Amino acid sequence: MDKYLIAVLPGDGIGPEVMREGVKTLKLIGERFSHNFELREALVGGGAIDKFGQPLPAESLSLCKDASATLLGAVGGSKWDNLPSSKRPEKALLGLRGELGVFANLRPIKLFKSLISSSPLKRSVIKEGIDILIVRELTGGIYFGHPRGRCDLPDGTVKAINTLSYTEMEIERIFRVAFKLARERSGKLTSVDKANILETSQLWREIGERISKDYPEVKLNHLYVDNCAMQLIKDPHQFDVIVTGNLFGDILSDEAAMLTGSIGMLASASLGKDKKALYEPVHGSAPDIAGKDKANPLAMIMSVALMLRYSFNLYKEAKVIEEAVEEVLNKGYRTQDIKIKGKKPVGTKKMGDLVRKQINLICDKLESRGG
Ligand code: IPM
Ligand code: MG
Repeated sequence: MDKYLIAVLPGDGIGPEVMREGVKTLKLIGERFSHNFELREALVGGGAIDKFGQPLPAESLSLCKDASATLLGAVGGSKWDNLPSSKRPEKALLGLRGELGVFANLRPIKLFKSLISSSPLKRSVIKEGIDILIVRELTGGIYFGHPRGRCDLPDGTVKAINTLSYTEMEIERIFRVAFKLARERSGKLTSVDKANILETSQLWREIGERISKDYPEVKLNHLYVDNCAMQLIKDPHQFDVIVTGNLFGDILSDEAAMLTGSIGMLASASLGKDKKALYEPVHGSAPDIAGKDKANPLAMIMSVALMLRYSFNLYKEAKVIEEAVEEVLNKGYRTQDIKIKGKKPVGTKKMGDLVRKQINLICDKLESRGG
């Protein structure tokens, strides 16, 4: 039986409740397909601050470094909002991303057909659905650049500094990931930058053009980030794969998420060298609905599917999860973030149960066909 060690970091807010559904789903896949998923849980974020005085305890980090993959729920909450930025729960996320070296963040923006009416955009813009892949550089740019911090000025006021920097190596490797993904999809890659102002973006463009020679099957075009923000709403169908830096990717992926009706639907995979990988929903810890059985667990469940696909090459298993999710939505079940009149409202647990029931049905069918 194959064995996989997975670090499980539920985190704060709705993190633990969506993680519970993700883990149960993973266990079911393990049973149905005879894989041994060994799960080890650790604290990160606010919970770790409360217990150990720091958002990313060394023990949690070393577990993630030993594991074949890490699943993360969400971190943060108002309780820790007034801490200095180096001690906030979010620091755990950045620490993990940086320490694991997961530089390529894949955010598939897919609008399921049955959720078309949940999108705030008109049907004439959405057409038959949306399917975009955002590839966000995750371990560089202004999130990690130095110098950073605050200093007192002689006049008694304060100045704060962050630095946006990118090396050739960082730009080249993220472009290579994006070109490969674009080659497997429609062959169209849009690079997003602010090359009319920023030197880092000018270098970004130069390198993108250079790398494009290695991928003649892919057509590369460039957009300024402000224009891209507008085009995503005006005509999302012009995009297939988007590659961009850390901060622009953060902003554009939230914007693009809304095209799908809810950020509660979006999963993400962060991949690095040495097969290290981190899987997390794009949504945050949503403290206002935490513990109320209201959160949408589908982004977490689909993050599990991404882990099966990208870390373990378990393509069939990943597809079964994704098909089950689609089928449950087709049957009209909705958590509150994607609810519409006439559909069946369900909570976090029920949504997880429904997906697992559907997985069982799909697996039974596969087995009866001998597949
Ligand atoms: C994300 C989040 C994080 C980010 C926060 C929580 C640090 O917004 O994953 O998109 O900015 O990267
Ligand atoms: Mg974000």
